[in-house]
Amino acid sequence: GGERPIIVAIDGPAAAGKGTLARRVADALGLAYLDTGSLYRAVGLKVLEAGQDPDDADAAVSASKTLTVDDLARPGLRGEGVADAASRVSAIRAVREALLAFQRHFAHSPPNGLRGAVLDGRDIGTVVCPEACAKLFVTATTEERARRRHEELRARGEAPTFEAVLREMEARDARDAARAAAPLRSAEDAHVLDTSNMDVDSALRTALWVVRSRCVLD
Ligand code: DC
Repeated sequence: GGERPIIVAIDGPAAAGKGTLARRVADALGLAYLDTGSLYRAVGLKVLEAGQDPDDADAAVSASKTLTVDDLARPGLRGEGVADAASRVSAIRAVREALLAFQRHFAHSPPNGLRGAVLDGRDIGTVVCPEACAKLFVTATTEERARRRHEELRARGEAPTFEAVLREMEARDARDAARAAAPLRSAEDAHVLDTSNMDVDSALRTALWVVRSRCVLD
């Protein structure tokens, strides 16, 4: 302990494969993992459950202030309605600010005494942890991401059409990239990884190579 923690930032649009990749990188290197999308999803879910509007800043900010660690593991977080609500609350600057301290604390003081952390999201390399030693920007074509998301939803027993998933994906991407507060974009020093034609193992190999070449691991 005592050394600078190893922080790996993995950003990118929905269903680009960053969650799976981030978890695998964390496991391979013995680092903690935080899915920051789950914070915004948990806020979105709380707002929906209270019968409030995810575009209502006061409702969303109150929800973000009462968030607990247990809220981040709820099964309800993965549905499409919650993804849409998450994208809406995440455009509210005060919500992003309310969630910043938790994310930075996790990165700098990872749980269980681990020596570092992998965070995935939209603004980890640009806003939350610009000091991260390694940054990856994980992308894939919109069609490929919609195809993956569609499969994931079918596996969960939801049955939207591919076209509906594609449309929802385009709407959410546009909102995440166009918002004024911490829009989705690659950090200048990020390694861009297009996973459209890549399986998980080759994406992992590339990611580990980036982390090993940029962070001091031992
Ligand atoms: O990664 P995800 O699909 O679980 O994210 C859900 C929403 O949360 C996404 O539409 C944008 C928002 N988000 C964000 O604004 N910043 C992050 N660091 C992570 C997610």
